Amino acid sequence: MRIVSGMRPTGKLHLGHYLGVLKNWVKLQNENDCFFFVADWHALSTSYEDKLNLKKLTKELVKDWIAAGIDPEKSVLFVQSDIKEHAELYVLLNMITPLGWLERNPTYKDQLQQLEGKDIHTAGFLTYPVLQTSDIILYDAQAVPIGEDQRPHIEIAREIVRRFHHLFECEVFTEPKELLSPTPRLQGLDGRKMSKSYNNAIYLTDTKEEIWSKLRTAKTDPQRVKRTDPGDPEVCLVYDYHKEFSDEEMVQKVAEGCKTAAIGCVDCKKMCLESIERVLEPIRERREKLDEEYIDSVIENGNKKAKIVASKKMEAVNRAVFEIKCNIEN
Ligand code: TRP
Ligand code: SF4
Repeated sequence: MRIVSGMRPTGKLHLGHYLGVLKNWVKLQNENDCFFFVADWHALSTSYEDKLNLKKLTKELVKDWIAAGIDPEKSVLFVQSDIKEHAELYVLLNMITPLGWLERNPTYKDQLQQLEGKDIHTAGFLTYPVLQTSDIILYDAQAVPIGEDQRPHIEIAREIVRRFHHLFECEVFTEPKELLSPTPRLQGLDGRKMSKSYNNAIYLTDTKEEIWSKLRTAKTDPQRVKRTDPGDPEVCLVYDYHKEFSDEEMVQKVAEGCKTAAIGCVDCKKMCLESIERVLEPIRERREKLDEEYIDSVIENGNKKAKIVASKKMEAVNRAVFEIKCNIEN
C-alpha cells in the first residue's frame, strides 16, 4: 500500500511519540511504500508567533525518526515546504472546499479552545485540513496512519476528493483511508498528559541519568506510604510504563511484588528504568552517529523522490482543472 503521514516539527520527541507514532511507522515501512514528511507549513499554522527555527527543528526531527528505526532506504523522507506542489494543490482545493466543512471540524473546535493562549483565528489554521488533504492525495495515499484526533481530517480529505471528482468530472485522486494508530496514551510522570509544556515527558534524547531523575520523583500509588504497605499497581503510573516497556515476566513480578509489598517503589522504578533503557539506549546511540551531512543527504534524496510523484500528479490535476474534462473527447 502507498502510505503517507506527516509530523509537525515543533520540538524534540518523547516516549508518547515513539509509542504512538514512530513504532508504527517503523513496522509499516517493511511492507508498504511509505512517504513520511516533516509538516513544517502545518507547524506554522499554530506556531507562527513562536519564532521557531523550523530548518533546525526539521533536521532534528528527521534525526529522531532515523534513530528510532525509520530507514531512508525503505521509506521516502521529505520536507513539505520543499515540495511546492503541496501549496499549489492547496490553492486549488481551497477553491472548492465549503467553509462549513472546516468550521464544523471537531478537531478545529477543540484546538480553538485548547490553544487559548495562541491566536489561531487565521485562514491558515481554519484551512489546516485542506493542506493536509493536499499532502495525502498528491501521493495517491491509500492509507494514512494517524491518531484519534486526526480522524476528522481524513474524513474531510475523502469528501474533498469526491467533490473534486464530481466538479471536474475526472478521477485523478485516490480516496485515502485512515489507519488508526494504537494510542497507548502514556501519561506524563506527574499524571498529566505527556507534554513538553508540562515538563513531564521522557525524551528520546534523555540520558539514563535524566530518565532516572524523572522516574525517581514520579507519583506512585498514593496509598502506599510506607515500604511495608502493599500497593495497587493499577493506580500507579510506573506500572503503566512497565506494561509498555517490560516483558511479560517482569510485569507479573512487579504486580505481585507491589501487591504483597515484596518490592519497594524504588526497586520497582529501577527495574522500569532498565526496561526503558533497553529501548532508548540503542536509539540514543544511533542518533549520536548521525551527522548533519548525512541528514541533509537523506532529505535531499527524499525530496527528489517526492517531487517526481507530486509533479506528475499536479500535471494531471491541472489538466483536469484548466483544460478538458477527461471523460469528454477533445
Ligand atoms: N495534522 C497531523 C498532526 O498534527 C500532521 C499532518 C500533516 C499529517 N499532514 C499530514 C498527518 C498528512 C498525516 C497525513 O499529527
Ligand atoms: Fe507503583 Fe511499583 Fe510502587 Fe507498586 S511498587 S506503587 S507499581 S512504583
